[in-house]
Amino acid sequence: MKEVEHGIIITADNARVEVLHFSPTVVRVRIDRSELKPDFSYAVIRQPAGNFKKITDKRDSLVLITDSLQVIIMKKPLRIKFLTPGGTLISGDYQNFSLSWQGTEITCYKKMFPDEKFIGLGEKTGPLNRRGNAYINWNTDIPGYSYRQDPLYVSIPFFIGTHDDVSYGIFLDNSFETKFNFGASTDDEFSSFSATDGEMNYYFFGAKNIPGIIRDYTWITGRMELPPYWSLGYQQCRWSYYPEPEVLDLANSFREKKIPCDVIYLDIHYMDNYKVFTWNKDRFPDPTSMISKLNALGFHLVTIIDPGIKIEKGYMNYDEGIKNDCFVKYPDGNLYVGSVWPGRCHFPDFTNPKVREWWGRSFTALTVPGVEGFWNDMNEPSAWGQSIPDIVSFDFDGHHSTLAEAHNVYGLNMSRATFEGTKQLLNNKRPFVLTRAAYAGIQRYSAVWTGDNTATEDDLMMAVRMVNSLGVSGVSFTGPDMGGFIGTPTNELFARWMSIGVFTPFLRNHAEINSRHKEPWSFGEEVEEISRQWINKRYRLLPYIYSAFYESTQTGMPVARTLAINYPRDEKIYENDFQNEYFFGGEILVAPVSGDKSICKVYLPAGDWFRMSNDRYYNGRSEATVDCPLDDLPVFVRSGGIIPLQSVIQNTSEKPSPVLEIHVYNGKVPNSFTYYEDDGITYNYKTGQFCRRVISFDPVKKSIIIGKAEGSFASRYTVFRLVLHDFGDIMGVKVNGKDVTLKLKTSKQRFLETALTSEATEITY
Ligand code: GLC
Repeated sequence: MKEVEHGIIITADNARVEVLHFSPTVVRVRIDRSELKPDFSYAVIRQPAGNFKKITDKRDSLVLITDSLQVIIMKKPLRIKFLTPGGTLISGDYQNFSLSWQGTEITCYKKMFPDEKFIGLGEKTGPLNRRGNAYINWNTDIPGYSYRQDPLYVSIPFFIGTHDDVSYGIFLDNSFETKFNFGASTDDEFSSFSATDGEMNYYFFGAKNIPGIIRDYTWITGRMELPPYWSLGYQQCRWSYYPEPEVLDLANSFREKKIPCDVIYLDIHYMDNYKVFTWNKDRFPDPTSMISKLNALGFHLVTIIDPGIKIEKGYMNYDEGIKNDCFVKYPDGNLYVGSVWPGRCHFPDFTNPKVREWWGRSFTALTVPGVEGFWNDMNEPSAWGQSIPDIVSFDFDGHHSTLAEAHNVYGLNMSRATFEGTKQLLNNKRPFVLTRAAYAGIQRYSAVWTGDNTATEDDLMMAVRMVNSLGVSGVSFTGPDMGGFIGTPTNELFARWMSIGVFTPFLRNHAEINSRHKEPWSFGEEVEEISRQWINKRYRLLPYIYSAFYESTQTGMPVARTLAINYPRDEKIYENDFQNEYFFGGEILVAPVSGDKSICKVYLPAGDWFRMSNDRYYNGRSEATVDCPLDDLPVFVRSGGIIPLQSVIQNTSEKPSPVLEIHVYNGKVPNSFTYYEDDGITYNYKTGQFCRRVISFDPVKKSIIIGKAEGSFASRYTVFRLVLHDFGDIMGVKVNGKDVTLKLKTSKQRFLETALTSEATEITY
């Protein structure tokens, strides 16, 4: 054993082992058969820091201590365990075998506890609790994927285990094909994770609870930046809207029908022969004028972008790519050719910093006319035939590698190039970037949508779990193709999907080419009206949703949060009937239900709850059978919950009424909510132009405080309407010491209105 900066290195009989301290709750383990290679990762943005408090070299073990963890390394045979300071085993190598190589494939086996559950791994099908299942990470273009399909488009080799009273996270930072086995086909004694090549290189997260583990995981792999506010609105997509008059008609229809919408997408038909960074001049003769018309109607335009560059002399991006040596090659120096939409293509090497810059600059073709959102597709990478030879070479930021290692980070690096490039081009405006393929850390650059799903009730429920799973894996800004990309939803499915979409971080309706139209008015008047009401609700909720996104940027806490984050030890939440339930932000519990049901069972965990639509009260830790007509998804607010709402607007550039409603639901336990607002468009928040205030409710002191505003941004709202739910006929209400009389809203709701200034306001009762 050798002590090194931040940790130790062990030279064992058959392996080198490095254990490094990143923080008292984050420890990294690297193991290889020979000398460890220079350290490099596309996912990780932190360096080892600090040191173990104490390192003890005993006869048969090494003990490394941090403030929060003990790492015990048994010497013969080599086994690594992680324990709490009190000595409870959190996670440890399986006693019988722990590390094995099969050819180049390296596997680590961990003891599996009798009651252990596993969540996470990003975009995966299957149940919330992944125990009994095995998964592969190899980014794959898989249209119409089924309920158990694996792998899909995204690889996030990070999971959270929870057993007894402890939880932990493991992130295997290896971009070769990786595999996770949570006790599938075994007799329940061990779980394992492996990589087909490269090092065993994992981060162990030992924070006390799951929010802490997510905080640490996103400290290591980065957090999202605040997205443009408009990207939280409703988004309309189709493969493809063209030509220009059709796009403008679509925009006008939203406004005429008074269905709020912020974004319209152009799919591949906007390009000339599917060549990226071009416009089809017949279909879109004057993109600048079209986009300014859209902007005037309050729409932002997002265009698709694919990595394959058509092989065609005279096509600027092809010529530049050849001249600047931007495309991936075989080891013999010949360029790789694969066919995608434009026909035969070369593929940019996004693992080369020069290529990322070149790609980023190419967006002027889109940004100059006014495009503000960039939809990165086919970046698994996908080419017809779906099997690019592993031997294709990549720069790997100077570390030189092949597709075997670069494949899973191709989408990440394409999204990074897109994000970094467009951020520069948009002059202080925030770009919106969307991607299909990704690797751990993608949240720093892009939102993720869950690829080509199908219009079935099962897909709807599966999408909810995928979004929640991406959430615990660091990716907050995510959602499925609302309504289903492939196939035709029934009216009921579409209406239900719309309601669940309202409580989904990324809300985009998309449909395959030649499929039935899926705009909200395409399913008859009844569904149109239900859709309108739900989208109105989304816009009412925007102050709440934006604050939840802000929280993600600060702590990594996802916007859609499986109940497992806060209730990991409650067995009920993993049951088939309840595993899809989640919190949307910190206060709202959503119990998704398929469109074919009008009555359903929900489970409400510890706490007390109010149904949001009618203020009906429910005790926690209990099941309830509730009505769920299409216009009333079972959505609950925690008692003590605090929810800011605004008036309905048709798009985010429209000024809402100056009244910010703050809804407080009575409860027994104090609660607080961090409200966040800024211009929603620029990076000026980085220099203090935001408005942040803590709203707190203390039922013991009988007070509600709208805290003093921090930051220099003048809020959009100048009045607040405090709406009290289930407080009864409270008397003696005072605002900053002055008596006020509450007004009656419904039998369960009372309200008062007063000026919203930057100073604190206290309401007592
Ligand atoms: C892929 C995408 C889909 C897009 C289509 C055409 O299938 O996943 O969203 O509409 O390509 O570009």
